[in-house]
This record gives sequence, C-alpha cells and structure tokens, in this order.
Amino acid sequence: MQDNILVVGSSGQIGSELVLELRKSYGEDHVIASDIVESSVEVMNFGQFEILDITDNEKLLRIVKKHNISQIYLLAAILSANAEKNINHAWDLNMRSLFNVLNLAKEKIIKKIFWPSSIAVFGPTTPKQLTPQYTVTEPNTVYGISKLAGERWCEYYFNKFNVDVRSIRYPGLIGWKSKPGGGTTDYAVEIFHQAIQNNTYTSFLSEKTTLPMMYMSDAIRATIEIMEAPFEKIKIRSSYNLSGISFNPREISNEISNHIKDFKINYSADFRQGIADSWPQSIDDSFAKEHWDWESKYNLTNMTDEMIINLKNKYKLASDEK
Ligand code: NAD
Ligand code: SER
Repeated sequence: MQDNILVVGSSGQIGSELVLELRKSYGEDHVIASDIVESSVEVMNFGQFEILDITDNEKLLRIVKKHNISQIYLLAAILSANAEKNINHAWDLNMRSLFNVLNLAKEKIIKKIFWPSSIAVFGPTTPKQLTPQYTVTEPNTVYGISKLAGERWCEYYFNKFNVDVRSIRYPGLIGWKSKPGGGTTDYAVEIFHQAIQNNTYTSFLSEKTTLPMMYMSDAIRATIEIMEAPFEKIKIRSSYNLSGISFNPREISNEISNHIKDFKINYSADFRQGIADSWPQSIDDSFAKEHWDWESKYNLTNMTDEMIINLKNKYKLASDEK
C-alpha cells in the first residue's frame, strides 16, 4: 500500500514548496498539508488540507488516523530571529512538536519522520570555515539550542526505539515561490524582492557577513532524497550537514547588479547581526555526499538568474492581473 504523507507547517517558506513537489511524486491524494493557518491557493486547491496546531496531540492523532498517515514531514517551528523575541513560545513549539511526532513513531502509529535542523546548532566557538559534521556545538540562540536538543532527541529515539527519523541541517534557504518566516538569513530573499520592486535594499546584516545558503530547489531535492534513501544508508540519525553556496550581502548585491544595473544596497545592521556572527561561513557536507549521494546543483550565479527571471515574471503577472 502506498504511504500517505502529512506535512506539518505547509504554509511556510519550505512547506509551501515541499507539498507541491511531494504531490508530483506521490499524488495529490497521498500528501496532506497542514498548518495553524491556511496555506497558498496551490496547496489548498490541489489536495487535502487540515488546520492543525501541532502542539494539540489529540488532533494530530485524529488527523493521522483519518488519513492513514505513515510519514510526517515536521516543518512547524519558530525561526532564529522570531525566537529571540519570544523565547518561551519558541522553545515550547520547537520541542513539543518534535516530541508529539517522535512519540507517534515510537508507538508504531507512523513509520518515518523528516525533521529539519539548522546551521544554528553551531555557535561562536565552532570552526567557521568548512564546519565539520562533528565539532563544537555551543549555540547561543534559543532557536539553536532547540535545534541541538532536537537532534539529540532524534538520535535517542532512533537508538532506543528504532524510530526512522531523518534530518538535515539546512543552511539559509532562498526561493522565489515563498517568503521566509522570521530567520536571520531572510535578507537573502528580501533583497531580490526589493531589487525588482524598488532598485534598492537596506540589509540588516553587514556587507561582509558570509553565511551558508542554499537555493530552495536544491533543499527540496535533498529533503526528498534523504527520505527516499534506503534505511541503512542513513547512518547519522541526529542531523546531516548540508552545503550549498556561501556568500555575503555585498557578493549577492554584485550578482544582482548584473541583472538590475542601477541596483543599490545600503547596510543597517540590527540584532540579527549578532546571530549571524555566531554561525559558520561554510559547511563540510562530505557525510551527506558519501552516505546518500547528496550533490548540490546551484551556485550564486545560476541561483540569481533563476530568482530574477521568476520574480520578474511573478510581479509582472500580478500587475497584469490588476
Ligand atoms: P516558516 O516560518 O516559513 O514556516 C513555519 C510554518 O509553521 C508556518 O507556516 C507557521 O504557520 C507554522 N506553524 C507555526 N506554529 C504552528 C503550530 N503550532 N502548528 C502548526 N503549524 C505551525 O519556516 P520554514 O522556513 O518553512 O522552516 C521550516 C523548518 O525548516 C523549520 O523547522 C526551520 O527551523 C527549518 N529551517 C529553515 C531554514 C530556512 O532558511 N527557511 C533553515 C534552516 C532550518
Ligand atoms: N534560515 C534560518 C534562520 O535564519 C536558519 O535556520 O533562522
């Protein structure tokens, strides 16, 4: 029998794209989207959707049974910048959501879980260049602490209860179909929207703040590839390092200037600078390459090309419709 998949957090930056890709592979009837708020028109209109607060364990169980769910992609979370504004809520949501889903697998009600971690598990004492899989992890943000704790619990549930949980430490993600939800790497999406609409952008990170990033289609592909890999190939059950592109605000603005000649960037760093300064600049993902054949496809140039072409089309279509 074919697996039925529940995506929790389908209205977010990743969920709104992941649902559409999963439905292409598994069929509209087999991928159920869910979130605390309604999702995009594409997600809502072409497949089933449930309103779900993931901290509501009883409703989660009802939905899992109703749709005969065997896999959950858990994307609901509070990201780094927003988490600093409400530390109790961020800790509560990021941890309770994970336990609710891990416990469903422990009870053998579901078979497989995807749960994303982040480069935020690293901190100021971590080596910044080509950060290894196994290294110092002393995060100093509530988001990073919750992701590191989550990784330890994933590995614990795998070892003690045989729970098939798979995880990636996503870098900052950049896509044109959806907007980011309150992270430190959000500038790298906002810059494209502002460049196309206003020819100018004020970055909340300073010009030389290099961070690990990834184009969304690489990230979605990695997510589906790790979930579809044979059980025995997934040897790391905390979370895999994953690497795409590293750049800073000045480098991405130079690339955008190749498409938008009079584009101007200004810098006005805020509290997110401190978070960014605590994170690595580049990531060593050799275990993901070796274990499940991961390979990224996008660099700064081809990612920028795709972002600009697609966002220009999107804004043109929106203005034509008015
Ligand atoms: P997002 O903020 O865009 O989306 C999160 C979604 O969760 C939102 O649609 C929100 O409505 C939903 N949500 C919030 N509270 C909920 C609740 N109680 N019940 C159900 N849904 C709830 O986040 P995203 O960027 O799509 O990130 C998804 C996951 O990937 C998160 O775990 C995040 O930490 C991780 N991640 C994201 C990035 C990135 O750059 N986007 C990088 C590293 C890791
Ligand atoms: N993009 C995420 C953030 O900035 C990294 O996990 O919070």
